[in-house]
Amino acid sequence: MSRYYLTTPIFYVNDAPHIGHAYSVLNGDAVTRWHRLLGDEVFYLTGTDEHGLKVQRAAEANGLSPQVQADRTSQRFRAAWAELGVANDEFIRTTEPRHHRAVQKLMQRAYDNGYIYSATYDGWYSVADEAYISQEDVTEEDLKAGRVERMTEENYFFALSAFEEQLLDWYEANPHNITPEGYRNEALGIIAGGLRDISITRTSIDWGIPVPWADGHVFYVWYDALTNYATAAGYGDDEGRFAAWWPSARHLIGKDIIRFHCVYWPAMLLAAGVNDLPKFHVHGWLLVGGKKMGKSAFNQISPSDLVSDFGVDGFRYALLRDTPFGPDSEVSHESLQQRYNTDLANNFGNLLQRACALVHRKCGGVGPAPDTDHPLADVVAAVYADTAEGWERFQPSVALEATWRLIRDTNEYLQATEPWKTDPGSVVDTILGNVLESLRIVCILASPAMPFACEVAWGRLGLSGSPLDQRLPEAAEWGQYPGGLAVVDGEPLFPRLLD
Ligand code: MSP
Repeated sequence: MSRYYLTTPIFYVNDAPHIGHAYSVLNGDAVTRWHRLLGDEVFYLTGTDEHGLKVQRAAEANGLSPQVQADRTSQRFRAAWAELGVANDEFIRTTEPRHHRAVQKLMQRAYDNGYIYSATYDGWYSVADEAYISQEDVTEEDLKAGRVERMTEENYFFALSAFEEQLLDWYEANPHNITPEGYRNEALGIIAGGLRDISITRTSIDWGIPVPWADGHVFYVWYDALTNYATAAGYGDDEGRFAAWWPSARHLIGKDIIRFHCVYWPAMLLAAGVNDLPKFHVHGWLLVGGKKMGKSAFNQISPSDLVSDFGVDGFRYALLRDTPFGPDSEVSHESLQQRYNTDLANNFGNLLQRACALVHRKCGGVGPAPDTDHPLADVVAAVYADTAEGWERFQPSVALEATWRLIRDTNEYLQATEPWKTDPGSVVDTILGNVLESLRIVCILASPAMPFACEVAWGRLGLSGSPLDQRLPEAAEWGQYPGGLAVVDGEPLFPRLLD
């Protein structure tokens, strides 16, 4: 059994959850659900990023204290993920005492190891990105729009430049540590372009974690935020737990935060003496009308709105299936609806409906057993291999596409054998047994994307327990539908949506 520790970015609490955020969390949820099916010991983490100027200013604008702003918005993220059926094992908040302890411990170690020194920062800062911006990257437009602010402060710097070679060597030796490949080149480009030391403490704000060795300083919000991944694994509190989980750490991130994750974070870990570095899975943006969905484009869509239109699983499936992991993806209500109607209403839902209705018409409602040896068994074997590879490569859309081949081929088989034209008897029994067996396997393979619908479908087949509790690869071997079960002829699982 192997461990699989996956994290999402932690979300700023200045903003309400939208489907751009949900995109990260759902991809992670589906991948970790797959690993649970494999029997891996999974730890899936998400949470909220609550310090920094961006949050402090949002709180001021709302007439709230930063803590109250953080409490309220953090709760909205928690509720949004619960509504989407996300099975995270923990939800971390950077205002928790355990996180304060972990940040102080990690940074103190880096300080003791000689990688942190005091100096004056005199330069630009973007509050929207919570990032220091070098002079050559500041445009006239940034200045006019007030997107960057001048900052002059006596503070502490992290010797990022000391890690240039070590990071290049590490990425060289571990070419698959950033996927998809294109993003690895981006990270390598940043490092090879030369790393400058960065300011990591602030004295002009107090909404942050205090620096243990310097009164009046708090840590720069990104250094605080990145450490959440270590905190949740037990860093500073439970070294045994940290040692057990940390080597399997993987971070799921959006492409906008590559620099912080793939460059700053590994360097921080090395500076603190943590030599196991994490892997990264990087996704592109969800675009609406060609623009990144978000507060500034004013084009946010709330996950709840789409759940009311498509159902939890309808939304989960359509989003995961339609957005290849890596590149940017344009989403629209029309494209999600089309995907829902084609793959769920017409294919999966229709196959289940027809099969169950036929079992009632031809077999007295009792599901028959499949053939022990049948051509669909070969389809299942090929589909399983491709589905597993898709999930393994962190490509949910590819995995789901593979699983739907089984649905398509089973529909074709039903269409070709026309059991509705045949009198009840062993021929019909075998055909329907084969179809039920295919559906049993579909319920397991599709469950990472659609945990609730697959449980309902499983029950319709008369099976007890849950597809979520099955173990792969064994449970995907052909021939395990036992026959003799009471099949339920229920309402359509995915009613067709009308334009
Ligand atoms: N708080 C930081 C992350 C700290 S992680 C130690 C942050 N927060 S964020 O709320 O602005 O964004 C979090 C994640 O949501 C990012 O990975 C970002 O890419 C993702 N998304 C926000 N809008 C998105 C889209 N429109 N599309 C896809 N992902 C998007 O950055």
